[in-house]
Amino acid sequence: MLEVYFSSGMWNTPLESQSGSLVSLTYYALVEQIDGAGRMVGLSGLYRRAWDHPDDGNYWLGWFAVDPRQQRSGLGTLLLRGTASICAAKGGRRLCIETAPGLESALRLYRAEGFRDVNAIPSYWSPGADLAIAYRDLDPAEKNRFGPIAVEEL
Ligand SMILES: CC(C)(COP(=O)(O)OP(=O)(O)OC[C@H]1O[C@@H](n2cnc3c(N)ncnc32)[C@H](O)[C@@H]1OP(=O)(O)O)[C@@H](O)C(=O)NCCC(=O)NCCS
Repeated sequence: MLEVYFSSGMWNTPLESQSGSLVSLTYYALVEQIDGAGRMVGLSGLYRRAWDHPDDGNYWLGWFAVDPRQQRSGLGTLLLRGTASICAAKGGRRLCIETAPGLESALRLYRAEGFRDVNAIPSYWSPGADLAIAYRDLDPAEKNRFGPIAVEEL
């Protein structure tokens, strides 16, 4: 049997209640269940920055990756949609992503999921590696878009 679900953890304090650090974050693991044994196949996360206004509705996607052996089979799309749903359920109104123009696989996925990528800052990450920002406005109804994914708060 194959079951895919999110488990959130590694940081027991809810993202909105974390204080005293510059970045508050929560990780989400995409776990494949086969015959009762779980294996992590993807990772994502949401973060907010201390200087973001509490009511601005802006959240950032982070640590977004799928096991290279499992890529190109739809898991990245599932993980991104699930993370966007969790974000909407938290009251997020916009999901933003720090990325790079060279990450063509990720950018294709983001564009297919309705994200717009905007201007890049040249040589931000390292010489020749630009910073690009992608973002998408969230529909509050997305909080109900988990589909087959269950969220397990640890
Ligand atoms: C980005 C990433 C998470 C996508 O995961 P995935 O499971 O392969 O994604 P999906 O299978 O859902 O692919 C969805 C779409 O993304 C695009 N895509 C994904 N991998 C691609 C590749 N190697 N080349 C071109 N397009 C690609 C395609 O448009 C694809 O749709 P298609 O298969 O119908 O053509 C994965 O490539 C990854 O972990 N990359 C390394 C980490 C990274 O760059 N993270 C982003 C940081 S901002």
